[in-house]
Amino acid sequence: MRSVILLLLVSAVASAAAPTFTEDVAPLVFQNCTSCHRPGQAGPFPLTNYEEVKKRGPFLVALTEARIMPPWHAEPGDVEFAGARRLSDEQIALLKSWVEAGMPEGDPDKLPALPEFAEGWELGEPDLTLAMDKEFEIPAEGEDLYEYFVMDIPLTEAKWVRAIEYQPGARAVVHHILGFLVDGEALERKKGKGLGGLTGDRNRVLTWAIGTDPRVLPEGVGVRVEPGMKMVIQAHFHPTGKVERELSHIGLFFSDEADLRTTTEIQVPAHFGEWSGIEVPAGSDKYTLRESFTIPVDVKAFATFAHAHYIGKAFELTAHQPDGKSLTILKIDNYDFAWQELYKLSDPLVLPAGTRLDAVIRWDNRATNPANPYSPPQDIRWGPFSEDEMGSIILDSIAVNPADEPKLLEALEEHAALSAANFYLTTGGKFFDGRSDPGDRPKKAAKKVLDRFDADGNGELSEAEKQAAREFLAAHGFDKGYERASDD
Ligand code: HEC
Repeated sequence: MRSVILLLLVSAVASAAAPTFTEDVAPLVFQNCTSCHRPGQAGPFPLTNYEEVKKRGPFLVALTEARIMPPWHAEPGDVEFAGARRLSDEQIALLKSWVEAGMPEGDPDKLPALPEFAEGWELGEPDLTLAMDKEFEIPAEGEDLYEYFVMDIPLTEAKWVRAIEYQPGARAVVHHILGFLVDGEALERKKGKGLGGLTGDRNRVLTWAIGTDPRVLPEGVGVRVEPGMKMVIQAHFHPTGKVERELSHIGLFFSDEADLRTTTEIQVPAHFGEWSGIEVPAGSDKYTLRESFTIPVDVKAFATFAHAHYIGKAFELTAHQPDGKSLTILKIDNYDFAWQELYKLSDPLVLPAGTRLDAVIRWDNRATNPANPYSPPQDIRWGPFSEDEMGSIILDSIAVNPADEPKLLEALEEHAALSAANFYLTTGGKFFDGRSDPGDRPKKAAKKVLDRFDADGNGELSEAEKQAAREFLAAHGFDKGYERASDD
């Protein structure tokens, strides 16, 4: 017994004192870095052998200690995410002590094999492959590009999609894509107005960022594709130093089942914040949007996603259950617009009816924020372009009981209407000053709420009627729907 303990101690001390590449560092790097850091992938240099890792040792330590690499923006919370790319404190310390020890190689015979990385379609041959109609050229140098492309979906009958796989052509240059299923006629109406506003629509079906696995939908869930729909993708390109040509493909995998269920995006706030009056003052890092939504029925959540633009800084989504239990579902302290990641829950999360979801979103519009698109900083409002802002946390869910689905949708619609009413009351009806065109929807939704307070039915709200509306909104968590706070 004693000798076993002694042996354990000795080996612990030995490996703590002198980690080597082949025994300690290679397994860590191959498992956590090499998928992106190898030829033809997005990582700017390969990390596939001793020489390559040694060359940048101290730099790797700095980036892992700062938790910039591997890229993963969710802080540990109360739910587990599938495929989380987070190094443990021990792994970070190990890399550091190896560098401090002079980066010894160790016994070459102990070097593990490189992992096998799938080439081609990971899920096998798709039932239908969509493609961009022509190549898009990305210049060697310059700013990141955010481009929209429309893909035809040649279908003669409706199908349920059970899995979606995105395949970039030039992996080194594609950072992320968002895919939206869009009604062909709606797209026709948008012609000439730019496709930016589409991101405010609900039918996002694909979020792919570097290193993301194909999206296999949960059991019993599918995405309905009707003939005439189009796939619109927003692609983010990061120039690589040489001219690249991108031709993306999307593989759709159909289900044989006739009846699947569609997930509902519970968005807090609704419409990516469009109806919440986001306006981040120049110079402020305190501007905070708080909104709550109480789930009216039992729901099951599968994935979560946070979305803002360049100056988005922090997100937190907590669930307060009626039994008093609270869960942190998503917490991001250092948001990075460049990484649009969908966080898939390892196990579906059931939230009982009456659970209140609290979303808190913060922006940093100071000159010191390197992501700020404006110099000097300007007030930034909600808008469809990258230099505008948005802000929302999304929980991709279904009602546990299919019969409850309409009740969930109704509650979400009412929630959006309350934010519009709140915004309408506060800004006196001015919505976007022509910066973007939300159409009549928010105005109509706000009116539906505010009409309830038009006690004398004269078609407008008196000061007393407005006050009653404000009190009602406050009781629904909208008194601090958005709080304007700035440094000065
Ligand atoms: C999911 C893909 C992915 C993984 C996994 C990944 N990287 Fe990276 N890495 C990138 C990309 C892409 C960049 C280029 C910068 C960017 O886009 O954020 C990068 C950049 C870097 C840089 C240079 C940063 C700079 O400012 O020039 C270092 C150093 C680095 N990675 C180290 C690592 C280490 C160490 C690991 C593993 C512990 C790792 N990376 C895992 C994708 C990845």
